[in-house]
Amino acid sequence: MAILEIKTAGDPVLKQHCSEVEKVDKRLRNLLDDMAETMYASEGIGIAAPQVGVPIRAVVVDVDKKRYDLINPVITYREGSVVDSEGCLSCPNLFGDVERAEKIRVKYISRFNKEREMEAEGLLARCIQHEVDHLDGRLFIDIAQNITRGKVQRDKAK
Ligand code: NI
Repeated sequence: MAILEIKTAGDPVLKQHCSEVEKVDKRLRNLLDDMAETMYASEGIGIAAPQVGVPIRAVVVDVDKKRYDLINPVITYREGSVVDSEGCLSCPNLFGDVERAEKIRVKYISRFNKEREMEAEGLLARCIQHEVDHLDGRLFIDIAQNITRGKVQRDKAK
């Protein structure tokens, strides 16, 4: 595994609409493992492939010591609305309030090429919505209110 360079706001790869993954193979699993290692090294709770310069629809999230690798994730259901503070590994030291659905359902392909569906709420739901935004070229600073500059807060950076 390897720690990859994290692209920061201003890099055009972060504005791209990412392509669907067509083949789930060893190469993709290696990328997911490198993304996870990069995320853990930065004390993040989520990371999307474009953040390491690869414009494909793949994300890794881990908000509570359980890692999910989501390939071609699609949010199929949203319920409720919550405003909370967010940060992003690609926007160092920036925080802002973002409105997200409280509960979601998401369809995805697993790292072993199985179709899956999961429900998420709270921080996990927020994190997945943030990562799926990355796949559509959207950063939280594009939609946040009250953006402030501060020290990195653990468990906020995605
Ligand atoms: Ni992010």
